[in-house]
Amino acid sequence: MNSKIGNNVELATQLLISGGLVAIPTETVYGLAANALNEDAVLSIFKAKKRPLFDPLILHVPSIKAALNYCEELPNKAIEIANQFSPGPITFLLPRKNNVPDLITSGLPKVAIRIPDHPLTLQLLQQLNFPLAAPSANPFGYISPTSAMHVHQQLGDVVDYILDGGDCKVGIESTIIEFEQNKIIVHRLGGLSIEQLEFFGEVELRINQSANPSAPGKLKSHYAPRKQLIIGDIDELIKKNSNKKIAILSFQKSYAENNLVLSPSGDLTEASKNLFSFLRKLDDGNADLILTEKLPDTFLGKAINDRLKRASAIENEE
Ligand code: TXA
Ligand code: MG
Repeated sequence: MNSKIGNNVELATQLLISGGLVAIPTETVYGLAANALNEDAVLSIFKAKKRPLFDPLILHVPSIKAALNYCEELPNKAIEIANQFSPGPITFLLPRKNNVPDLITSGLPKVAIRIPDHPLTLQLLQQLNFPLAAPSANPFGYISPTSAMHVHQQLGDVVDYILDGGDCKVGIESTIIEFEQNKIIVHRLGGLSIEQLEFFGEVELRINQSANPSAPGKLKSHYAPRKQLIIGDIDELIKKNSNKKIAILSFQKSYAENNLVLSPSGDLTEASKNLFSFLRKLDDGNADLILTEKLPDTFLGKAINDRLKRASAIENEE
């Protein structure tokens, strides 16, 4: 086993204190973490991912109390939602305090904060006296990693250590929300469903791409495999592409040989857990293109469909 991968929280702590880059497990995807208050360390995240500086980073903290060190206020609704779902796959956009470096927010007035739900990472965060900035631990634009091995394959050379916490149980990034008056604005669909948020009041979706996106996860061509991915009716797509070597990513049913099934029982939670690792497997295989289909557009299906759509875009709108 590679010496850079392990579950040594003490080593991860020391490396982060000295300004290093450590990949951390979360319930959603692996993050590429550094001390969020150390600008050089934060710059090394952007460099390692080849990420543009206009794309802001999420602060990871161990508790709601710790979040209050970095935001001016927590609206009541945020507290209610956090009480129910944090630690968990939800990120809050909140008015930033001045101690948050401009580099973290790309100069925006709000800072993104979340409490990740993974025992090793919570232990790590509790031991540190600074928050961790952590984007997904993939090269910018590629599929997010859901295992330590995924991180190692692509960023093994640039990280100081990969804290191995096993496979991510949610498998899709956190839902990003903001509060406007009494409304919950969703900027990125993710591991916490709209249906779960609707319990707390009116929800508005603002997830469409724009030329100058406030959250680049909104860009159409993001989370993308290298191979072309086509969404549609799989039977028809197989006929249309009979002259090509195809791979298939389907929801419940198996259509052909080179076919990964997200959840034979039709469970959206299982499908979301498998999504990125299956996409990677097919991307690493020998097919010319990947065929897939839309999942039911409810609960986690919405976020899965969003990722498939962005992964299928050929044109990058940047
Ligand atoms: O589940 C997750 O959120 C994972 C794990 C590692 O925590 N992190 C993650 O980070 O997905 P990243 O950087 O890959 O995606 C964060 C998204 C980006 O699209 C970014 O533009 C948006 O959050 N974001 C961060 N700070 C923001 C801010 N202040 N205002 C608007 N959008 C922000
Ligand atoms: Mg990302």
